[in-house]
Amino acid sequence: MALFRKTEQEEQGLPVPAHLGIIMDGNGRWAKKRGLPRTAGHAAGAKVFRTIAKHCEKRGIRTVTFYTFSTENWKRPQAEVDAIMDLLRQYLKESLADFQKENIRTRFIGDRSALSADIQQLMQEAEESTAHKTGMDLNLAINYGGRAELVNAMRRIAEQVQAGKLSPEAIDEDCVWQHLYTAGQPEVDMILRPSGEYRLSNFLIWQCAYAEYVFEDILWPDFTVRDLDKALEEYGKRHRRFGGL
Ligand code: FPP
Repeated sequence: MALFRKTEQEEQGLPVPAHLGIIMDGNGRWAKKRGLPRTAGHAAGAKVFRTIAKHCEKRGIRTVTFYTFSTENWKRPQAEVDAIMDLLRQYLKESLADFQKENIRTRFIGDRSALSADIQQLMQEAEESTAHKTGMDLNLAINYGGRAELVNAMRRIAEQVQAGKLSPEAIDEDCVWQHLYTAGQPEVDMILRPSGEYRLSNFLIWQCAYAEYVFEDILWPDFTVRDLDKALEEYGKRHRRFGGL
């Protein structure tokens, strides 16, 4: 099954990645350049997120994951954390009506237990009201960390072993895949990170084992659909070998 995930994009000759991960970076610098508070950068970034998410669907991408808030982002000043949570709240409220028009299934990945109760409720409604959609999967990574995801998977696997439902010999790559937040979704073919930073920052670390990286020197709030098309073109030129020749 893991092998199928790796070659699916190639076998089907898809012109675009089956799973694209996007690190929305550069909001703070964008605001600073304009003499605005960092929160204005996040607000501009949230608008771009909507435009780019819709464009991903148009381009036939099956799964896209946006890095929205990491397990490390709690270290930011409280006012900035609150502003990001407000944007998320606003997006969820507005989108609940909008979701009906689109063929997009929304999923939240990360530990939502640390989020406020109203946001958790909105997330659940967003997931439930889009669960039947058959188009693109839109993952929002919130309070997400790749290491935390693996710890969570290991804990759940260990519980099954302890309960006698799983033998240690049955733990293989497929078993790990099935316990990730992205269970059932393709592995990540491409990571896009704008803003001139060249890091993965604890994003989808298991799923990215064979991902192609495209870095752009553009701050996220300036990112356009044309920039996404260019990045996809760059991805299309890559020769993927998955360890073979
Ligand atoms: C990274 O830029 C961005 C974040 C940590 C937050 C991303 C959040 C949004 C785009 C808004 C909320 C999104 C939704 C889906 C409603 P940075 O602040 O680290 O930028 P910098 O490196 O220039 O400081």
